[in-house]
Amino acid sequence: MKKIISLTVNGIVHEVAVEPRRNLLDLLREDLGFTGTKKGCSIGDCGACTVLMDGVATFSCLTLAIQADGCEIETVEGLTESGQLNRLQQAFVDHGAIQCGFCTPGMLMVATELLRDNPHPGEKDIRRAISGNLCRCTGYQKIVEAIQAASKEQS
Ligand code: FES
Ligand code: FES
Repeated sequence: MKKIISLTVNGIVHEVAVEPRRNLLDLLREDLGFTGTKKGCSIGDCGACTVLMDGVATFSCLTLAIQADGCEIETVEGLTESGQLNRLQQAFVDHGAIQCGFCTPGMLMVATELLRDNPHPGEKDIRRAISGNLCRCTGYQKIVEAIQAASKEQS
């Protein structure tokens, strides 16, 4: 039996009826159209599905949609500012941190959480923050450099 939940996604409140077993990833992608959040493994191994839930990086594939009732969700679509890439997104572009791009939304969300908590992280902090997110293309170094560059630009 479906349950009505209310969650805020990128600042907009959505009321939706969900089955108790539906996960947050499918709710975001299939019901609400936030396809920027990627579906990789669906078992908590790859990090492609990472969103911020009440500010905390969360694997949406391992989160039931009903757990998000009353929560604030941020997805990659919410990072742009006035329709432009934000500083972190632009740094990923500038530093070649995006190749196929499949890991990028998840990487951006964990990096967003990191830079909010620690505006000037060291390399070890960055590598620890992205350690739950797999990238098959970049070798990670470019991603680390992009996050470092974004952190240097912020006051
Ligand atoms: S799709 Fe969620 S961790 Fe891989
Ligand atoms: S850019 Fe392809 S998986 Fe990271």
